[in-house]
Amino acid sequence: MTSLFGALPPAEPDPIIRLMQAFAADPRPDRIDLGVGVYRNAAGRTPVMAAVAAAEARILARQETKGYLGLAGDPGFLAAIRALVLGESVEVARLAAVATPGGSSAIRQALELVRAARPGATVWISDPSWPNHAAIADAVGLARRSYRYLDAAHGSVAADAMLADLEGAAAGDVVILQACCHNPSGADPSAEDWAALAALLDRRGLIPLVDVAYQGFGEGLAEDMAPLRRLAARFPELLVTVSGSKSFGLYRDRVGAVLALCAVAAEAEPVQGRLATLNRTAFAFPPDHGARVVATILGDPVLRADWQAELDGMRRRVAANRVALAEALRSETGTDRFDFLTGHRGMFSLLGLAPGEIAQLRSLHGLYLLGDSRANLAGLSAASLPRVARAIAAVLGTPERA
Ligand code: LMR
Repeated sequence: MTSLFGALPPAEPDPIIRLMQAFAADPRPDRIDLGVGVYRNAAGRTPVMAAVAAAEARILARQETKGYLGLAGDPGFLAAIRALVLGESVEVARLAAVATPGGSSAIRQALELVRAARPGATVWISDPSWPNHAAIADAVGLARRSYRYLDAAHGSVAADAMLADLEGAAAGDVVILQACCHNPSGADPSAEDWAALAALLDRRGLIPLVDVAYQGFGEGLAEDMAPLRRLAARFPELLVTVSGSKSFGLYRDRVGAVLALCAVAAEAEPVQGRLATLNRTAFAFPPDHGARVVATILGDPVLRADWQAELDGMRRRVAANRVALAEALRSETGTDRFDFLTGHRGMFSLLGLAPGEIAQLRSLHGLYLLGDSRANLAGLSAASLPRVARAIAAVLGTPERA
């Protein structure tokens, strides 16, 4: 018999993880990371938000036990997340909810729930999308298909193509939508696109799974959640996955939740039980520290106002970076090719560069973008931005200005 691991097929990390590894291994001190989706401040650091530090101090001073909570996590956290993302849009009695270690596990648990309930369902994922959506659907063992999403020539949502592809979905299929700040494209549906999408999903009996990861980075917290809330008010059944990584800056503390809206209140209890069992068999109890920080912030008017103000500042910084990069690229390349950047929202845009250009940016200029040309605009600083614009102009073959 061969050894246990002798025939183990190698597991390739996804492109985001590969880029993180390559960046970490690059010895050039002035290399620029526009890869993984983390917020960075003007000094290039991913800060602990002030409200997070204050909440942590309070927890440290007051917490009397670290004994187990229930399998669903802290009910106070779940209620706070529900109010944050869904507002008053749903009847609470129809909701099942569990905490998870981060947004990825929320997607995992939501899709495990789908597989348990309807193993024949196909999961529809936008093309392009965050690579872990497809990877998790595959890991769960659900069939998946993609729907066209982006008009690459204009950097906008290809609404007609999206709707045409989703016409091919079967009743009961699950459609992953991103609530705001689409990853990787930065292009969000307009209000009209959302309305047309909702009408199609409704008519065809499709189940929305709305992934909420960048709340507050688009137009503002309430504005970013408005399309999701309209869907939640309209649909009998809907899944929501929430990440606390970006908008609370709690990346490594793994804060997430699944909210499952059931057709009738009587279904919420068995769904809650199934989600609890899915947690039990995956990691037993969800982590509590980050969730407690979020619940503490959202439950305290002063901390909440402070958090929201800092999040607003983060959003404004990324938006300002968009404008500054578009201007610098206009001047360096002498074209309006990158003007679309200012119409996008959130941390990401696809720059529309060719693989060879992206490779040159990395090897010649120490500039790290993902292979699909996704750039994290939050990674730009006043010092790096002119260099980035010059490097992009250089690989495009346009003369650099002095
Ligand atoms: C990203 O898209 O870069 C982030 O969501 C981080 C991750 O886990 O991939």
